Amino acid sequence: MSLPRSLALVASLVFAASCGTKLPCDATSCPTGCCNPGSGRCEVGNSAEFCGASGNTCLSCTGGQQCVAAVCGSANGGTGGGSAGGSASAGGSATGGGSAMATTFWYKDVLPITQVSCLSCHRTGGVAPFALENFAQAKPMAAAIKSAVVGKRMPPWMPDPNCGGPFVGDRRLTQAQIDTIARWADEGAPEGNPADAPAPPGPVGQLPRVDTTLTMAEAYTPSSTVADDYRCFLVDPALTGNRFVTGYDVAPGVAAEVHHVIIYIVDRNAARTKDMGEAGPGWTCFGDSGLQSPGPIGAWAPGTGAVIYPAGTGIQLTASQGLAMQIHYNTSSTPRVPDQTAVRIMYSAPGASLTQAYLLPLVANGFAIPPNATGYSYTDTFPNPTQVLPIKIYGLMPHMHTLGKRISIKGPNDTCLVDIPKWDFHWQQQYFRPQPFTMPGSGELTMTCTWDNPTTRTIRWGESTSDEMCFAYIYATP
Ligand code: HEC
Repeated sequence: MSLPRSLALVASLVFAASCGTKLPCDATSCPTGCCNPGSGRCEVGNSAEFCGASGNTCLSCTGGQQCVAAVCGSANGGTGGGSAGGSASAGGSATGGGSAMATTFWYKDVLPITQVSCLSCHRTGGVAPFALENFAQAKPMAAAIKSAVVGKRMPPWMPDPNCGGPFVGDRRLTQAQIDTIARWADEGAPEGNPADAPAPPGPVGQLPRVDTTLTMAEAYTPSSTVADDYRCFLVDPALTGNRFVTGYDVAPGVAAEVHHVIIYIVDRNAARTKDMGEAGPGWTCFGDSGLQSPGPIGAWAPGTGAVIYPAGTGIQLTASQGLAMQIHYNTSSTPRVPDQTAVRIMYSAPGASLTQAYLLPLVANGFAIPPNATGYSYTDTFPNPTQVLPIKIYGLMPHMHTLGKRISIKGPNDTCLVDIPKWDFHWQQQYFRPQPFTMPGSGELTMTCTWDNPTTRTIRWGESTSDEMCFAYIYATP
């Protein structure tokens, strides 16, 4: 079974229908659960033909095991989600909760890994559908956790490690960490001694500091006449002097209908006038903000977490500037409900002098994907925008829609900068290099996109979710 398919399907639980199509599923796409053909989602199963390898066991759990979260609980622990945590293992005896031969324990061995590698999403209020913050939550999930890490579905991390990386925040586990988690699950997920727990983590997956939170002034209900509604909203940082944006974190109001958010720098007064000119909150804005803009301060798509710009760099905002938050709402398969999206922003200290960075768009829009094509590729090249001066490339955020299979960007002399070999619409972000790649003035970037087109129409560049894109934002400085 193919990795991105399973990710995309289960991700639909969280980003339900954000890709605009009703996702079908089958046994192979639900490895630890069963496909519900009605909803198209992986769930705890009850019809054998739709259950994946470990999901299937839920139909025939034996020896006192129970079906918890779509997997049979182990003989030691899976005695029902709620009570599993406390009973057998309280008190932290060396073998608490596991077999007499247990060597690997939650507090001593597993928590130090999950704290760093899972908690950014698997926490209360995080993007993952369940929390893994403590033993009581993790124990009933032990078999699913093992399957997810051994199968390298979790933690999600899309770039090919042999191209451009390792990037900042690389989420891949080491083989030793995978083995530890697998052994813990095999030994019956013993708890061990709470005194062995690592120190609690600081904030994970969040900005270290939030200087301002800008929320849409009013909630907006997406258009009832189009499935893809592009709407811009003025949010006002109300600065009194110049500041550099050094990080941001978009909080979609209704994740199921928010397909992307791009936050453009605009003139505050021009944006007010534009806003007044149209009924309802905000204004319609296909393509960009519909106003002059030096560019965005940031972009969000499903899978993007908090973004922290490389030290010493940022995107400058002046006192007269406002921000136009362009939101692409897709409601082709989700109810239209009022949305009020927000963005948290981190600034440099007042008066700090940072290197001004730009989010440069790479637009490869000349493709026409023939009907029923498999593995159709399109390549475009982009000269250094300065033509003469070198630029420093720190980050790359590739973007396609739901038919994308692969996207890669190369520099001069075939230098590989980023390659997403199994594109997944649900996991998109800016990949930052620890050190910038310096591209000479004469250099150019080459972007290649590959798609499958299962439809009977020719698919071209377009703003609708059912159209495609071959696009990237490059975070670069002079
Ligand atoms: C960047 C966010 C993120 C991180 C980090 C992350 N997860 Fe997940 N996880 C998700 C989301 C979202 C889902 C549901 C959708 C999916 O499966 O893609 C999920 C689903 C799962 C599932 C059920 C589906 C499956 O594929 O088996 C398990 C088990 C799981 N995660 C375990 C883990 C463990 C263990 C870690 C750390 C080692 C981890 N995850 C790290 C976001 C994350």
